[in-house]
Amino acid sequence: MGLMVILLKSIIKMLLCTCFPVTGVYPVRPQVPAVAGYEGVGEVHSLGSAVSNLEVGDWVIPSPPSFGTWQTYIVKEENAWHKISKGIPMEYAATITVNPLTALCMLENFVELTSGDAIVQNGATSIVGQCIIQLAKIKGVSSINIIRDRPGSEEVQEKTKKLGADLLYTESQLSAKNFKSLLGDIPEPLLGFNCIGGDSASLVLKFLRLGGTMVTYGGMAKKPVTVSTSSFIFKDIALRGFWLQKLMTSDRTMVCRPKIDYLLRLVQDGKLKYEMELVPFSDFNIALDKAMGKLGSQPKQVIRF
Ligand SMILES: NC(=O)c1ccc[n+]([C@@H]2O[C@H](COP(=O)([O-])OP(=O)(O)OC[C@H]3O[C@@H](n4cnc5c(N)ncnc54)[C@H](OP(=O)(O)O)[C@@H]3O)[C@@H](O)[C@H]2O)c1
Repeated sequence: MGLMVILLKSIIKMLLCTCFPVTGVYPVRPQVPAVAGYEGVGEVHSLGSAVSNLEVGDWVIPSPPSFGTWQTYIVKEENAWHKISKGIPMEYAATITVNPLTALCMLENFVELTSGDAIVQNGATSIVGQCIIQLAKIKGVSSINIIRDRPGSEEVQEKTKKLGADLLYTESQLSAKNFKSLLGDIPEPLLGFNCIGGDSASLVLKFLRLGGTMVTYGGMAKKPVTVSTSSFIFKDIALRGFWLQKLMTSDRTMVCRPKIDYLLRLVQDGKLKYEMELVPFSDFNIALDKAMGKLGSQPKQVIRF
């Protein structure tokens, strides 16, 4: 039995890993001291003789994503890896399994959206938000986007519109507004996404139509979601939550892999883009500072090994 395990293992040389910090309260914490990293892309370096689905030189990503990708080499069973095409830009391969998959699952799992529908979201500049805009567009679904007020927000608005955002407002542009009048030809959204909390979540709720659903998946402002009594009584709003890790049990991982392949095909076809910065491992401390927001709003940090 022990020998079989070794025969089935693969040695992966890691090429790129994400540097995405987790803040706030999480129900799962790695025991410290721990190796950092949760996503990444690697190249098969060598294989046990019983490994049948991988070849030396293949590119693979951890699937499900798992703690400890900041390593030069990782030894694991072959089914811990998902083989991907080498034509994919490496930085996308390294980042596809969390944020883009979250965006896709949230668009598919709560409400059946059809072409012509609309969604509303806050945190539209986040990677998840950028993916939601583009994936919604592909489904023929319009997006109403809310971003926070901050220096450079005009430039950010331009970039976000280029991704396909139909409507885009800063939080201050929405104060004391008749929300329906802002929609123009766009129908009232059935589904809303909240990754900020506080007042920003209330803005998402105000856009939702009767019987609409708001899905909370993050809490960047570290403020609770408060819902007016009238939203419940007169709009019958439903509040839901999403956590990718819960979806990524080992049996469900296999169901997610075709979704990952779909997302990677969109990347290859130039239909899914988001901003990242590649950083050599020697500068990981700068990447960490940027990722923790110590140097203002920065693109996502991806570390090259
Ligand atoms: N539940 C899940 O399964 C799941 C999966 C993936 C991600 N997430 C969560 O989703 C959220 C977005 O993740 P990401 O990696 O895509 O984010 P990201 O690219 O790092 O972007 C962070 C976003 O939050 C905004 N923001 C940061 N601090 C804020 C504050 N104090 N008030 C208002 N807005 C603030 C940023 O706005 P600026 O552009 O103005 O800086 C940006 O839009 C995070 O909360 C993350 O934990 C959850």
